[in-house]
Amino acid sequence: MAQTWTPNSWRQKPIQQVPDYPDHAVLEAVEARLAKYPPLVFAGEARRLKSALANVAEGRGFLLQGGDCAESFAEHGADTIRDFFRAFLQMAVVLTFGAQQPVVKVGRIAGQFAKPRSSGVEKQGDVTLPSYRGDIINGIEFTEEARVPNPERQIMAYRQSAATLNLLRAFAMGGYANLENVHQWMLGFVKDSPQAERYRKLADRISETMDFMKAIGITSENHPSLRETDFFTSHEALLLGYEQALTRVDSTSGDWYATSGHMIWIGDRTRQPDHAHIEYCRGIKNPLGLKCGPSLTADGLLELIDLLNPANEAGRLTLICRFGHDRVAEHLPRLIRAVEREGKKVVWSCDPMHGNTITLNNYKTRPFERILSEVESFFQIHRAEGTHPGGIHIEMTGNDVTECTGGARALSGDDLADRYHTHCDPRLNADQALELAFLLAERMKGGRDEKKMVVNG
Ligand code: PEP
Ligand code: CO
Repeated sequence: MAQTWTPNSWRQKPIQQVPDYPDHAVLEAVEARLAKYPPLVFAGEARRLKSALANVAEGRGFLLQGGDCAESFAEHGADTIRDFFRAFLQMAVVLTFGAQQPVVKVGRIAGQFAKPRSSGVEKQGDVTLPSYRGDIINGIEFTEEARVPNPERQIMAYRQSAATLNLLRAFAMGGYANLENVHQWMLGFVKDSPQAERYRKLADRISETMDFMKAIGITSENHPSLRETDFFTSHEALLLGYEQALTRVDSTSGDWYATSGHMIWIGDRTRQPDHAHIEYCRGIKNPLGLKCGPSLTADGLLELIDLLNPANEAGRLTLICRFGHDRVAEHLPRLIRAVEREGKKVVWSCDPMHGNTITLNNYKTRPFERILSEVESFFQIHRAEGTHPGGIHIEMTGNDVTECTGGARALSGDDLADRYHTHCDPRLNADQALELAFLLAERMKGGRDEKKMVVNG
């Protein structure tokens, strides 16, 4: 029998990745303030996302999840959010066209601030300081003062999330996402890239289709689905005090929901079944993500699935696989087979970023060809196992950064220094993200043709 869950029952469990706050009274006061603040998202929205993900789990849809590795206070601005949203919409439209299936759009945004670290300390020369853990916890500057965890940062992160979400809601519902604008989502710096021509062609076909539909009376005025889109938020539920403060009872169902974001996920470093992060997540009703890295055994995964989704509800759990391009073939099939054997309903998503990080010229980077290679393998393995490659989870930005090498513009190790802005892991720029979307669309189209052949043959 599972023990009684409460929003603070995680506090009785062992826990990883906890910041060393110098003053617990200040921390508690901040958490008490946050507990009185309005929820950022509503339970009904989380339920809508869950039912969209249930379709994906059943093979009828694709999950696109992406955004910053770590949001930052310094980069908070309308242009950054708009450019991210544009790049994301472009990817989504390319994927919808390729898959001929609904694309469930989930940003790593409006709450993605806390970072797990492999080492508690960072060394530069002779100086050793506590690691940077994300803007919600401490500062990125390499000074003793900045690296002290400061609870007030949680209030800043909450307010930034609220402002970001407000703009995203306006973009999604206020006309910007109208399919009639499909040409205008092109970002300036992508315009002269090799992807631009492909995108323009696709946008032309969509515009033609829209003109045809208009002629028969279907317009964005009378069909909201042409002018609005569902856009959801997500982040890693790492800082549990913050999550607890935003955990609220939904008055309609009487259930507990995390209201810090629509979907939250458990990182690869904090998924111990008897520890705090699993304890917190099992009790809230939001859709959950679980990062699956090479150290996860098939039995370990089944144990976690039973803890997190005992009712085997489709849409509740997304397995975000991040093995690395050279390890995915070794690890993914055994997990798929165990899940299939036990009849567990999950969304399989591929995170081709976190297993493919290397250091080049002192920069953390990710070669684009390895990212593509892991995605390709993910698709091939699912085809071979007869399961649905349900989604992708990426770190990306709408800005013209130089953080991942390769791509159509063939960024090299020497280019990294030009515009390397990330606060944590290297992200795909809009150009690379769009290139990835086109590749995915081709794979999904391939899968469709194969299915047709099976049906017809
Ligand atoms: C992340 O998604 O930024 C992350 C830290 O991932 P993982 O837990 O898979 O390492
Ligand atoms: Co990351």
